[in-house]
Amino acid sequence: MKKKKGMILSLTVASSILLAAGCSSSTGGSSDAGKEKEGLPAVGATIYKFDDNFMSYVRRAMEDTAKGKVNLMLNDSQNDQAKQIEQIDTLIAKGAKSLAINLVDPKAAQTVVDKAKTKNIPVIFFNKEPDESVLKGYDKAYYVGTTSSESGVIQGELIAKAWEANKDKWDKNGDGKIQYVLLKGEPGHPDAEARTKFAVDTIKEKGIQVEELALDTAMWDATKATEKMDAWISKYNDTIEFVIANNDGMALGAIASLEKAGYFSGDKFMPVVGVDAIPEALEMIEKDKMVGTVLNDAKNQGKATIELATNAANGKDVLEGTEWKLDDKKAVRVPYVEITKENIQVGKDAYK
Ligand code: GAL
Ligand code: CA
Repeated sequence: MKKKKGMILSLTVASSILLAAGCSSSTGGSSDAGKEKEGLPAVGATIYKFDDNFMSYVRRAMEDTAKGKVNLMLNDSQNDQAKQIEQIDTLIAKGAKSLAINLVDPKAAQTVVDKAKTKNIPVIFFNKEPDESVLKGYDKAYYVGTTSSESGVIQGELIAKAWEANKDKWDKNGDGKIQYVLLKGEPGHPDAEARTKFAVDTIKEKGIQVEELALDTAMWDATKATEKMDAWISKYNDTIEFVIANNDGMALGAIASLEKAGYFSGDKFMPVVGVDAIPEALEMIEKDKMVGTVLNDAKNQGKATIELATNAANGKDVLEGTEWKLDDKKAVRVPYVEITKENIQVGKDAYK
């Protein structure tokens, strides 16, 4: 009986999230009035924008983990930092006992901490890592995410291995170097910066020479990536030998562009790699349109975020009863995993 009531309530929450996401009101989407539900403590949360492929999976894991444990008040910050700050003010006013914040701009972390600190409210930042000094400056501030550089290293290793095995075909001009184009995520985002640097550095460390034909941001976005790739194909045409994308969304956008230009039919091929291992990218790997990707474990990051925020809201040690560990920066770091056709099931399991 009790369970049923919980389910009806969470359906109400889900439908109000949908309603809120649909209407772009000036304050952005807020999933609920924030009243204490069945005695559950309130956790106030923001996602930088709901319209981000990877974050939609993190969000789902957060909602699943929150069910029956906390009253999750989840906001779509619509990629607007000022809007997010207003949402945080509202969440605090509504009685949030802890905050789970996916910043729009990583530089806004101190402002968020300043607000939480005055009310002694714990803050779990997730996905966009704030500066170390911000976490150090507030004993109730934590981070849940990854080690950004690790995804770049793994992607670089994947590229080097695939290149070594296929260079007879892939080194089109036979100069021994990889002529690549790189689709970067949001500039200033720790993941985008680290993936860009460490992917290329790792290829070089493996003894493979590279030549950058083009590098530009497509803001993690498939449509923007298609536009960039269209322009690069018309400018560089067949001299491009590799497409490196900071995430799968942009890799998929590049593939759409490559398909228009006749790639992936007959023997016209282009190696493409990404990061995240979202289901659409795994499909591309299975169809041999993507060489591989790097699993960014949305499910465990969403789960860890809510588990820490739940403990914090209940006044407990954030790690109590969880499988997570904090490093010396007060961060929980979920590992990245290389994904190719051989271990594709690992990616599928993480996103099911
Ligand atoms: C990254 C992810 C990207 C994008 C970004 C948003 O970790 O790989 O696809 O979702 O976070 O901050
Ligand atoms: Ca070459």
